[in-house]
Amino acid sequence: MANQKVTVPDIGNYHDVPVIELLVKDGDTIEKDAPLLVLESDKATLEVPAPASGTVRALKLKVGDKVSQGAEICELEIAEAAVSAPAPAPAAATVAPVAAPPASASVAPAPPPPVAAAPAAASAEIDVRIPDIGNYHDVPVIELLVKDGDAIEKDAPLLVLESDKATLEVPAPASGTVRALKLKVGDKVSQGAAVCTLLTAAGAAAAPPSPPAAAPEAAATPRDPATPTEPLPKNPLAIIADTAPIPPPPAAARRDGEVPYAGPATRKFARELGVDLFQVHGSGARGRILIEDVQGFVKQRLTQPPAAAPAAVAGAGIPPIPAVDFAQFGAIETRPLARIRKLSAAHLHRAWLNIPHVTQTDEADITELEAFRKAQSEEGGVKLTLLPFIIKAVTAALKQYPEFNASLSPDGESLILKKYMHIGFAADTPNGLVVPVVRDADQKGIVQLAQETAELAKKARDGKLKPDEMKGGCFSISSLGGIGGSFFTPIVNAPEVGILGVSKSQIKPVWDGKVFQPRLLCPLALSYDHRVIDGAYAARFIVLLTKLLSDLRRLAL
Ligand code: COA
Repeated sequence: MANQKVTVPDIGNYHDVPVIELLVKDGDTIEKDAPLLVLESDKATLEVPAPASGTVRALKLKVGDKVSQGAEICELEIAEAAVSAPAPAPAAATVAPVAAPPASASVAPAPPPPVAAAPAAASAEIDVRIPDIGNYHDVPVIELLVKDGDAIEKDAPLLVLESDKATLEVPAPASGTVRALKLKVGDKVSQGAAVCTLLTAAGAAAAPPSPPAAAPEAAATPRDPATPTEPLPKNPLAIIADTAPIPPPPAAARRDGEVPYAGPATRKFARELGVDLFQVHGSGARGRILIEDVQGFVKQRLTQPPAAAPAAVAGAGIPPIPAVDFAQFGAIETRPLARIRKLSAAHLHRAWLNIPHVTQTDEADITELEAFRKAQSEEGGVKLTLLPFIIKAVTAALKQYPEFNASLSPDGESLILKKYMHIGFAADTPNGLVVPVVRDADQKGIVQLAQETAELAKKARDGKLKPDEMKGGCFSISSLGGIGGSFFTPIVNAPEVGILGVSKSQIKPVWDGKVFQPRLLCPLALSYDHRVIDGAYAARFIVLLTKLLSDLRRLAL
């Protein structure tokens, strides 16, 4: 073993530059060229790479320390075999020297005029070119951080270049909209190469949209830095030389043209793990995202219990639906969900995931029922819709098929049979779906059921239902008959085991053995929990229901 002292290399005209990120700790085994730490002045971000492979010992720096060229970083314990090979040069010499042209010259992109100095009209379009990048030529573009049409802030990085010695971020010289992006990943550039046109605020208002991008491939390149583009370079990390003003910390919300505030090492790390840096909270200075932040993010995601995942996101190991930036396809509006919708979404999702659903359909001949209902209405009594009749028929069917009036115990070991019959019905309200419950429906007549359902439906629409009026349901009915449509597949309202979907009745020809008769048929769809209910049991239940609705006299039996 041999120890090699590692010092801060030639960093041009920078002195007392703060250490903003330490990428190694004592005992870490690292590869040659892996980044040790990140320095950040008001003009440049610099990553200092390891001059050789080895184990980090006696780390001398901490975040916040200010360093200049020659400051001691650590010692590198290098295996003998490696040492006896061509002897490593002293640290400062091994580390790729930073191209150190005068900072002011390298910061401003060449050759556009300073934005502020130009008159408003002249500053409308800025021709953005590769700035002075020291002695580097034909440096490959490894990452494009913007695409045509992106609105970006001054100093936000536009792209990343990477030579075998240095990684360079090219910042935007002004705030504006990216037009006519000329580069794509893999292009090789030198100082002065055209990057894009930047339409500044003054020009954005007046100028017509730019023609399509000169380099369509570049325009199509995803801006998301977590999306792999090209094969990763062999020596991805070195010194970021004279990258001009440091990128600003990202705003809380993602906007077009924004890039996460993180160094190339962190970005590469995130890219390898498939982490979207926009989702990672930066704990570094000014919100800079550190490698530990990415590690913490991944750890948290891996240990997050499925129940903690939002309703819209997958749980129980189900792959989530990938996030899509819809704004890239056209105008969008993001509207927060109403509280009821969020609650019902979570509830429906749980029921959908937990219950093996089967839906059995049938049609009930309600010709006589409808004639009776109409006659009652004409007599000027209580307005009767179909719903109270259906509730009545359901309670009668539940009496004969009690397993539909049951719930599975949470451990799945027993069936809890209910001796009461509280029937819920789905009500459509401006804020979303609610399910008021009619208590002891089996003990109430059609008129009382009609009154109660009408009152509960009104309360539901007015948002005045009390929590107690939505609790304790045994079986639910979802009636879309007043709206239209035929059959649908309702989701069982867990922990109930069955739900009846009712659709709009229609007159259809029915064969009576001699001729076709015009009959009013009401489509019914019975969804049930197949863990509790067998198919034959469900078929018998729905057949009884249709009989009850076809001949009201049966309800009196
Ligand atoms: N076939 C034909 N007509 C029907 C019908 C059916 N199956 N069901 C209802 N109608 C008729 C009614 O008789 C009434 O007509 P009328 O005024 O001529 O008598 C009209 O449609 C409107 O009835 P509706 O307001 O739906 O009353 P209802 O008592 O049948 O239903 C609610 C009350 C609360 C269930 C209903 O208003 C509602 O909100 N339905 C939506 C439920 C829902 O969103 N389910 C989806 C859950 S995923």
